[in-house]
Amino acid sequence: MTDLVVLGATGSIGTQTLEVAKRLDCRVRTIAARRPSPALHALAAEWPDAVVVVAEPASGSEDVVAGIGSDWLVGPEAVVAVAGERGAVVVNGIVGSAGLAASVAALDAGNRLALANKESLVAGGPVVTAARDSGGGELIPVDSEHSAVWQLIDGEDPATIRRIVLTASGGPFRGMTRDALTAVTPQEALEHPTWTMGPRITIDSATLMNKAFEVIEAHHLFGLDYSTIDVVVHPQSIIHSLVEFVDGAVTAELGVPDMRVPIQYAITYPERAPARVEPLSLPELELTFEPPDVETFPALALGYEAGRAGGTAPAVLNAADEVAVAAFLDGRIAFLDIPTVVERTLEEVTPTVPKSVADVLAADAEARETASRAIAAGSRMRR
Ligand SMILES: NC(=O)c1ccc[n+]([C@@H]2O[C@H](COP(=O)([O-])OP(=O)(O)OC[C@H]3O[C@@H](n4cnc5c(N)ncnc54)[C@H](OP(=O)(O)O)[C@@H]3O)[C@@H](O)[C@H]2O)c1
Repeated sequence: MTDLVVLGATGSIGTQTLEVAKRLDCRVRTIAARRPSPALHALAAEWPDAVVVVAEPASGSEDVVAGIGSDWLVGPEAVVAVAGERGAVVVNGIVGSAGLAASVAALDAGNRLALANKESLVAGGPVVTAARDSGGGELIPVDSEHSAVWQLIDGEDPATIRRIVLTASGGPFRGMTRDALTAVTPQEALEHPTWTMGPRITIDSATLMNKAFEVIEAHHLFGLDYSTIDVVVHPQSIIHSLVEFVDGAVTAELGVPDMRVPIQYAITYPERAPARVEPLSLPELELTFEPPDVETFPALALGYEAGRAGGTAPAVLNAADEVAVAAFLDGRIAFLDIPTVVERTLEEVTPTVPKSVADVLAADAEARETASRAIAAGSRMRR
């Protein structure tokens, strides 16, 4: 029986992981979230044998946590500790760079890390891959695009890969001009056409920053140069990614957009298990492709630039974006200000070579301060 540690259990990835856990009859060892919310109480009641971890209990809320009724632990260090207990598959569905230390702990302990928290690799790619290599853990992607590539290159000689192509839905604003985007609201940006996800990744999908992160994630996961990682807009989200080989063969992984499929595969790999997933009806499909509009959505180019700069530049990219997305969702900046805040922060913060999680988090903190200053300096930032 597989032992699961589910980090970010109350979120979109976390709740879908728990559905998969039921179907696969896994033992859920731990569930972790940020706050002692009603959703966490409900999960604790549903999984009474699981230890419950709350990363950030508000002061004075210990009674609320204790009211959960299960074994419980508090604090960010408890999240890291449960990720580092040996013999588990750790599904990291935490949002943001807050997930980095737990990813490293899981790999250091030799655990399998089913990684949805792409920020771990974006912000701390060199640190995470070093932990995998020294700790002997397995790093298996949950992001649907990377799960697709993972499946497509399994058993292939890496030297035969000419390039990979990550697909992007294009988000809710595909086809719109910059003028039309000046007044879009958070509510409009949260309406993703094909996936239902947490708010941060949904906004990142609308700006194309999510695809920028996925390019950096692919670079670290598959050891590919940025010149061999391409992006194509595919609005139907049926093809999750493609791989082109040196002999001209192009393979693709298809399926209905359903995150339970890559979550399950990251848990069962290299085995497959039955799942109740809507079948693909090929005659009803119309699959279309277009290049990303990099003028209207500059975030993708910022991602390639930060990735190529290396060191802590991608950590700065991610932290600035976390701050900018939160400001947009609060109504403090406009949609088009998000990449501007990120660009200004990248210009101001000098990247260093990170050797540890602490180095990455130092760059993350500096970027947050710089981005917050940029936001405070002007509510209308567009150039
Ligand atoms: N959703 C998808 O379909 C999808 C697809 C591919 C990749 N991803 C990636 O998966 C990750 C999670 O995305 P999501 O859409 O599931 O996000 P979400 O719905 O917003 O859920 C985030 C989860 O993280 C928890 N959390 C936040 N800060 C934390 C902290 N400091 N310590 C411990 N837990 C913390 C939240 O707990 P509270 O509820 O207490 O705040 C919640 O359980 C992101 O990195 C995203 O890019 C998501």
